[in-house]
Amino acid sequence: MSPAPTLRKHSIATIGADGIGPEVIDAGVQVLRKLASLDGTFKLDFEEFDWSSETYKKTGQYIPDGGLEQLQKHDAILFGAVGAPDVPDHISLWNLRLAICQPFQQYANVRPTKIFRGTESPLRKANPGDLDWVIVRENTEGEYAGQGGRSHRGQPWEIATEVSIFTRHSVERLIRFAFETARKRPRKFLTVVTKSNAQRNGMVMWDEIAAEVSKDFDDVKWDKMLVDAMTCRMVLDPKSLDTIVATNLHADILSDLAAALAGSIGIAPTSNFDPTRKNPSMFEPIHGSAFDIAGKGVANPVATFWTASEMLIWLGEDEAAKKLMESVEAVTERGVRTRDLGGSAGTKEVTEAVCAELEVIYGRKKA
Ligand SMILES: NC(=O)c1ccc[n+]([C@@H]2O[C@H](COP(=O)([O-])OP(=O)(O)OC[C@H]3O[C@@H](n4cnc5c(N)ncnc54)[C@H](O)[C@@H]3O)[C@@H](O)[C@H]2O)c1
Repeated sequence: MSPAPTLRKHSIATIGADGIGPEVIDAGVQVLRKLASLDGTFKLDFEEFDWSSETYKKTGQYIPDGGLEQLQKHDAILFGAVGAPDVPDHISLWNLRLAICQPFQQYANVRPTKIFRGTESPLRKANPGDLDWVIVRENTEGEYAGQGGRSHRGQPWEIATEVSIFTRHSVERLIRFAFETARKRPRKFLTVVTKSNAQRNGMVMWDEIAAEVSKDFDDVKWDKMLVDAMTCRMVLDPKSLDTIVATNLHADILSDLAAALAGSIGIAPTSNFDPTRKNPSMFEPIHGSAFDIAGKGVANPVATFWTASEMLIWLGEDEAAKKLMESVEAVTERGVRTRDLGGSAGTKEVTEAVCAELEVIYGRKKA
């Protein structure tokens, strides 16, 4: 008798955090549990961390002492969103999300975007397939390096500096990662976003490194765009783009534009990868805590489902990841959509519809 196959196990840390974060993470965990039980070849163990602006207001800390060591024990992190109306945004972002990405050297922030079947782009001429991009964002330095300061506070001669940091080490590893990402996609095409006309130091080095790294990727075609012109190209000629690499700030802005052009910020995912796998990578929707809709049960959970699927690929569960995305797209196509996508369904209905679709895909239920 052949031995029973061993169940692959993955441990996931969940941090819902603020606003709609816990709502979409609960939906994501529900769908992932369903998927694992239907699949039967892998098991997911979840550990919830209650790190949020509420915790900060009570204890003065978002991440308790020893918190990163706790996270380190997990294979991946599923993150909601941080930001509360009564805590300054730079405090919440720097003390939770960036306090994980930067020490864990999750240097490649990968943001795919596409138009789902059954949804509409605000662009008149873009249909599913016409906009299918992956934005690779530098995630540890650049404009968000945290360098700078303020002097003479409140005086008319007050000074504030925000210094962008570009190191050869980080730019090269990121651009190499972007070429590798482009190489894995059918079109093998990379657009390097820059601003080297106005920013004549860091951005000129960025361009030089892109040209150097490109020599190792003969099979990948590439071009270069100034970030301002890039916004026009994204709107006017979405089919001309495929994989895009940009700095921390540029890609942050371009990826929100990308999500909106694909239909809603509520569908777009982010992977924060430490490609060395020394630290757990972190997966999240790109949207924020959206306190305008928090607690109303209307948040779109699709971005979280997509990021959960990206997490499964990272963990080696490609087949299950594919099935999850097939279910999500079947559900949007059938018209079960939240308000941001022009529908009337709530978070719960979309989540239940995806779980039901998974049962169909795994052959447990008839369509
Ligand atoms: N990664 C993060 O944790 C992250 C990212 C962006 C913003 N933020 C924080 O979130 C807070 C709110 O920021 P914001 O308003 O600029 O951006 P946001 O993404 O939270 O919201 C922008 C708009 O999109 C809508 N929206 C966002 N996600 C949605 C979803 N899943 N379904 C339906 N509609 C959705 C919101 O209702 C809002 O109208 C701020 O504190 C900000 O700092 C955090």
